[in-house]
Amino acid sequence: MKIRAGVLEHGFARLMREAQCGERMDREGEIHNGFCIAHDGVLDYVDLQKHTGGSSVLVYGQTELTRDLYEARDRLGGKVVHNAEDVTPHDIDSGAPFVTYRVGGETMRVDCDYVIGADGFHGVSRKSIPADKLREYERVYPFGWLGVLSRTKPVSPDLIYVKHERGFALCSLRSQVLSRYYIQVPLTDKVDDWSDDAFWAELKRRLPVEVAERLITGPSIEKSIAPLRSYVAEPMRYGRLFLAGDAAHIVPPTGARGLNSAASDIYYLYHALLDHYQNGDDRGLDGYSARALARVWKAQRFSWWMTMLLHRFPDRLAYDDMLQQTDMAYLLSSESALRSLAENYVGLPF
Ligand code: PHB
Repeated sequence: MKIRAGVLEHGFARLMREAQCGERMDREGEIHNGFCIAHDGVLDYVDLQKHTGGSSVLVYGQTELTRDLYEARDRLGGKVVHNAEDVTPHDIDSGAPFVTYRVGGETMRVDCDYVIGADGFHGVSRKSIPADKLREYERVYPFGWLGVLSRTKPVSPDLIYVKHERGFALCSLRSQVLSRYYIQVPLTDKVDDWSDDAFWAELKRRLPVEVAERLITGPSIEKSIAPLRSYVAEPMRYGRLFLAGDAAHIVPPTGARGLNSAASDIYYLYHALLDHYQNGDDRGLDGYSARALARVWKAQRFSWWMTMLLHRFPDRLAYDDMLQQTDMAYLLSSESALRSLAENYVGLPF
């Protein structure tokens, strides 16, 4: 299983509590009041609390979240179908859409009021919207992240985002005994090219000396390469189909926005459906795509900016390098710029 990031913005945490799924998250999640940026051999602290007037983020693994949501679904007696094949939405532009799928050789049909396509980037939902009704925006970055999970004490209680001339690195964590580290690698690299020793050696090279000296290494328990991509599909509604999360948009992981952007779609949809079923008010459903996309694009902008700020781009101009250095120098010298970073990192209001 993929071990995904878990930096939750406070609005997402609130949504989990509202859905009565937040108990273990509040017990086991770690509040992070800031994070570090390493550059030019030094470490700077970005104080999220100070720059947002009291906000922070919660570090809680995505796999843990999934577990809590499954358990909540079970408590409600909800039905979850696993291993469904040939899932196909039908008649989504009519008043009576339905979804068919196959399990164990049997074809099943679910008649729906609405279909929520929260089936990821490679899912069928987005693909069932006619191509001439969909507009896609995309940027693919010329590198990936090689990530390692290890049962070691994290090098720092705070996340450390590293800008280095050999490439970006990130020190993150899942718990006090489980560390997650990443290094930027060329897209042509394969996981098998990287032994654990080679990974640790390269990570150390990119960290400030005093951090590298403290780094505790160990065998990797997971190792994978993720390409970086920015992607948005518009609109997020077609007929009675509503797209949510990666089915409609992808961000590079740099700003920790992916999971949070999915959550804000669900926030809008949840309230829109409540308004529809409780009050017969369809304004939320009708405005869903525009409202969700307005926030999605802000997360796109922020993730793109963090990615441009921190990575080494092959074939860049000397001019681009100077701009990148200046971007960093400006950020760390300006209260306004730090406030903007912090405001986006803890999550813009819904
Ligand atoms: C992670 O812990 O996997 C992680 C944290 C922050 C990011 C990206 C990934 O921005």
